[in-house]
Amino acid sequence: MVQKGRQLGRKLGFPTANVPLADYVAPTFGVYATRTRLADGRELPGVANVGVNPTTGQVEPRLEVWLFDFDEDIYGETIETDLVAFLRPEEKFPSIEAMVDQIRIDARRARDMLGAW
Ligand SMILES: Cc1cc2nc3c(=O)[nH]c(=O)nc-3n(C[C@H](O)[C@H](O)[C@H](O)COP(=O)(O)O)c2cc1C
Repeated sequence: MVQKGRQLGRKLGFPTANVPLADYVAPTFGVYATRTRLADGRELPGVANVGVNPTTGQVEPRLEVWLFDFDEDIYGETIETDLVAFLRPEEKFPSIEAMVDQIRIDARRARDMLGAW
């Protein structure tokens, strides 16, 4: 179920939907090209981090997905995200700027893989 994050991603240029992993089996932490089904059945491409965000201050393990070209309020909705391809392990970056640069590259790779331009 989508919960409110710290709203930092939005300020950095990539709004994300946060889903706590709590009761789920956790996959390898890292970044994945994804497809997400919303409660209404729409299926959207995106890029997700599964992990604990070591760069911006540790959080509980969660899936955090940036749905491309999407700007609707889905807090409280149950979504289903397929991890289509592993892109890289989660890293602790020396600065937020360095992380944002890498996330832009991740997003381009995910769009290429998913044919989502
Ligand atoms: C595609 C993608 C890749 C990410 N990769 C990392 C990473 O390697 N290391 C890290 O510490 N956080 C990573 N993050 C998480 C960001 O730190 C996080 O989105 C940001 O702190 C905003 O968090 P918030 O949603 O709680 O506001 C990634 C997020 C996304 C969407």
